[in-house]
Amino acid sequence: MKKLLFLACLSSSAFAAEPSLERQTELRDLLKNDCGACHGLTLQGGLGLPLQPKNLEGKSDEFLIDAIKNGRKGTAMPPWKPFLNPDEIAWLVHLLKNPN
Ligand code: HEC
Repeated sequence: MKKLLFLACLSSSAFAAEPSLERQTELRDLLKNDCGACHGLTLQGGLGLPLQPKNLEGKSDEFLIDAIKNGRKGTAMPPWKPFLNPDEIAWLVHLLKNPN
C-alpha cells in the first residue's frame, strides 16, 4: 500500500523522465553506499548533514538538487553531476523527502 502511494505520488510529480526501475535500484544502492558513507547508512548524518525527511522540511527541491549536482564548495560534499543526470538527481531528492 505504501509503495502504491509512493508510485501514485511519483507519477503526479514533475519529472521529465523518471529513471527506469533498474536505474532506481542502482540509485537506491548509491544512496545507501556512497551517500551513506558520509551521510550515515540511515542518512542520520555523519560527516555529511542528516538527510532524513524531518531534516529536509522547508528546504526547496532546487536547493537540495543544487547541493547534489554541484556539491558544496569548501565542504566534503562532492558534485555528482558527472554521474547522475538531472532527472536522477530530482528523483533522489524526491526519495529523500518521501522514503518508502
Ligand atoms: C565525501 C562525503 C560526502 C558524500 C559521499 C556525499 N555527501 Fe552530501 N554532503 C556532505 C557534506 C559535508 C555536506 C554538508 C555541506 C554543507 O555544510 O553545506 C553535504 C550536503 C548534502 C546535501 C545538502 C543538505 C542540506 O540540508 O543542505 C544534500 C542534499 C546531500 N549532501 C546529498 C548527498 C547525496 C544524494 C549524496 C550521494 C549521491 C551525497 N550527498 C554524498 C558530504 C558528502
